[in-house]
Amino acid sequence: MSQLFSPLTIKSVTFRNRITVSPMCEYSSVDGFANHWHLVHLGSRAVGGAGLIITEATAISPEGRISPDDLGIWKEEHIEKLADINVFLKSMAQCLYSACTCGPQSQCGFCLERR
Ligand SMILES: Cc1cc2nc3c(=O)[nH]c(=O)nc-3n(C[C@H](O)[C@H](O)[C@H](O)COP(=O)(O)O)c2cc1C
Repeated sequence: MSQLFSPLTIKSVTFRNRITVSPMCEYSSVDGFANHWHLVHLGSRAVGGAGLIITEATAISPEGRISPDDLGIWKEEHIEKLADINVFLKSMAQCLYSACTCGPQSQCGFCLERR
């Protein structure tokens, strides 16, 4: 079997393969909220079988956005739609990794869910 399709464990997280979806700003949020576009964009990669899916830059404050249409997580209300997407990805046995931004030069991340 090609190594690409073999599982990879990093600390406590095991990815079912080594295919990773890079973070890609979609310029599709209004006021930071995820919507159907994000579900389809990330969800279709999950259906395709990627082992790790990284969200676009997700701002922890409105000022931290790279563009006005970026995803955000500065309001409690943002969580519900991101969590919905995560439920779907989890059902596909994927790991969603959220790439958070606090400014154009600054990015950190955390795994929203893992299996
Ligand atoms: C349209 C576009 C949007 C991108 N959005 C993000 C982003 O939100 N966060 C990030 O860290 N990188 C972002 N990137 C950078 C890509 O993730 C990066 O180019 C990719 O990881 C490079 O992969 P490669 O070395 O395989 O070409 C973006 C790139 C493009 C072209």
